[in-house]
Amino acid sequence: MSNVLGIRGYDYIEFYVGSAKMVAYWYAKALGMSITGYCGPETGIRDRISYYMTKNNLKFVITSPVQPNCYEIFQFINRHGDGVKRWSVEVDDVEKAFSYATKNGAIMVERPHKLEDHNGSVEEAAIRLYDDTELVYINRDNYNHIFKPGFCEPRQKINIECEDTCLVGVDHIVGNVRENEMNIWASYFNKTMNFETFVDFKAGDIGTKYSALLSKVVRSADFKIKNPINEPFEGLKKSQIEEYIEQYYGSGVQHIAVETDNIIKTISALRKNGVEFLEIPSTYYDMLRKRDNLNIKENIDDLQKEHILCDKESEGYLLQLFTKPIGDRPTFFFEFIQRIDGAQGFGKGNFQSLFESIELDQKLRGNLDKTAEELMPPC
Ligand code: FE2
Repeated sequence: MSNVLGIRGYDYIEFYVGSAKMVAYWYAKALGMSITGYCGPETGIRDRISYYMTKNNLKFVITSPVQPNCYEIFQFINRHGDGVKRWSVEVDDVEKAFSYATKNGAIMVERPHKLEDHNGSVEEAAIRLYDDTELVYINRDNYNHIFKPGFCEPRQKINIECEDTCLVGVDHIVGNVRENEMNIWASYFNKTMNFETFVDFKAGDIGTKYSALLSKVVRSADFKIKNPINEPFEGLKKSQIEEYIEQYYGSGVQHIAVETDNIIKTISALRKNGVEFLEIPSTYYDMLRKRDNLNIKENIDDLQKEHILCDKESEGYLLQLFTKPIGDRPTFFFEFIQRIDGAQGFGKGNFQSLFESIELDQKLRGNLDKTAEELMPPC
């Protein structure tokens, strides 16, 4: 498997939200990101406002409609709530990547085109993902200003003092799809992006005694892009994927895993900034202490203090923790992850503890028990 499409890695992720200014403030305050660009009426864009936010190689665009005729964004928010509209990969050649994708069955959204101003040009194209999500190919080699044409320096500098959150970039992006859709989308990625499936979690691998899910992870050459796709699997109660599909009104991005180079510092700083995380029971750490040959550099007391999870692999280990859903609906959340000594997995050893923690929250929301209708066998 080679990188014939010239994929360099993740680029920006764009969120559609109800109020971009306030959400941008949350990303600055909670995740320690900087507002480095702005576009809106002052820059000639009449119907929407976007804030371009960065932290090292992490790049987010937060967008809201400001005119009633901005149907595309209003419809997205109306149906899904705040969520990820598009994620992008940086490629050597947009035309080549798009042409490969569409010849192999990708659904076109935007043909390759150039955005230009006096600072140069940016090339972009987009294909469809899931229900209402897009995957964008982008190349900014010939652009020498902020993000892309239409963006300028933020008009108001928001200076928020907070500890360094040590965020580095995107590690992986996860999609949730309906029952029987996972194989369709895994095959779509593999055919249109020249990816391959490298992890296949089957029934019984991921679940509790009440709920379960299936998951496949597709990846690009060199593991630059890793994209798990989850679908619900039948269980006694409603799985977290079913809850997502119901509350998001369709398939879409469930979480973004953000790479950190010091997860203890990251979680500590984020907690001080008010970010809420899943809670991990102390028995998890009692078991971790009893494991033979765990051999990790971190002190388990420090991990326990921040509720950080640890998964040992054949090569290396990973440390991770998940936020609670960050918006009003129980849909999108973040994961923070640190990979040490070459770990490439997704924390399979932690699934049980995680799902039990998620189920507690689902129960509080009244979304764990199935309705009488859902318990009926299919016709
Ligand atoms: Fe993840």
